[in-house]
Amino acid sequence: MKLFNKIINFAVFNFRKHIFSVNKIIEAEFNLTKSIREIEPSIKINCEKISKSHLGKLSANLPPNKIEKMKRRLNKDFYGFALITESGKIASYGWITFKDDYDSSTGILMKATSETAIFIDAFTFPEFRGKKLQSYLTARRLELLKSMNYKKCIAAYLDDNCFSRKNFISAGFSETFKWTVINLFGYKKAIKYKIKD
Ligand SMILES: CC(C)(COP(=O)(O)OP(=O)(O)OC[C@H]1O[C@@H](n2cnc3c(N)ncnc32)[C@H](O)[C@@H]1OP(=O)(O)O)[C@@H](O)C(=O)NCCC(=O)NCCS
Repeated sequence: MKLFNKIINFAVFNFRKHIFSVNKIIEAEFNLTKSIREIEPSIKINCEKISKSHLGKLSANLPPNKIEKMKRRLNKDFYGFALITESGKIASYGWITFKDDYDSSTGILMKATSETAIFIDAFTFPEFRGKKLQSYLTARRLELLKSMNYKKCIAAYLDDNCFSRKNFISAGFSETFKWTVINLFGYKKAIKYKIKD
C-alpha cells in the first residue's frame, strides 16, 4: 500500500510539474512606516548574515542546485539571515532581494524599486518548525529594511501554505494581489488580480 501511495504521489507530482497545474499565489505587502512586532523564538538562537561559511554548512542538508543558487546571492542585490542554534546547527533562514524576482517554481514576477524590497526563500528545517523562527526572521528582515530607509516590503506565498500565510498576516502584512498561474507543458501563464480592500 505504501509503495502504491508513493507511485501515485510521484505520478501526481510529475503531472503537475511537467504537464498541467494551476496554482494560486498571494502577494502581500508591509508598509515600513508601521511598527514591527517583537518576537521571542522558543529556542535560543543567534541571527547571522548568510556568508560562504553558512552555505558550507547548509550543503550537508540542501541539494547542490539550491546551494549554487544561494552562492549567486552573495552580493549587494541580496541579504540573507540564518538562525543558528546553540549547538551550531542552521535551523532556519530567509532572504531579501533588492532587485526584481522571477520565481521559476511559481511563475510570478515581483518588482523591486528603490523603495520596495522583496522577501524570498524562507525556510525552517522540519525539526525546528513551529518555534517562531520564521516569525523572528520576518521581524529581523523588516527591521533591516526600515534601517535602510525602504518604504515597503513585498512577499508571495501559495494560498494553501497556511503557516507561511499565518506568519505574514501576524507580522502585519496586507494581502494585495492574487495570482493564478497556469502551467501547461512547462509554459507558465500568470494572471494577476487586485484583492479588494
Ligand atoms: C512556512 C515556514 C517557513 C514556517 O516556518 P516556522 O519557523 O515553522 O514558522 P513559525 O514558527 O514562525 O510560525 C509561523 C506561523 O505559523 C504557525 N505555525 C507554524 N507551525 C505550526 C504548526 N505545526 N501548527 C500550527 N501552527 C503553526 C505559527 O503559530 C505562526 O503563526 P502565528 O504568528 O499566527 O502564531 C516552514 O513551515 C517551512 O519552511 N515550510 C516549507 C518552505 C515554505 O513553505 N516556505 C515559505 C515559502 S513562502
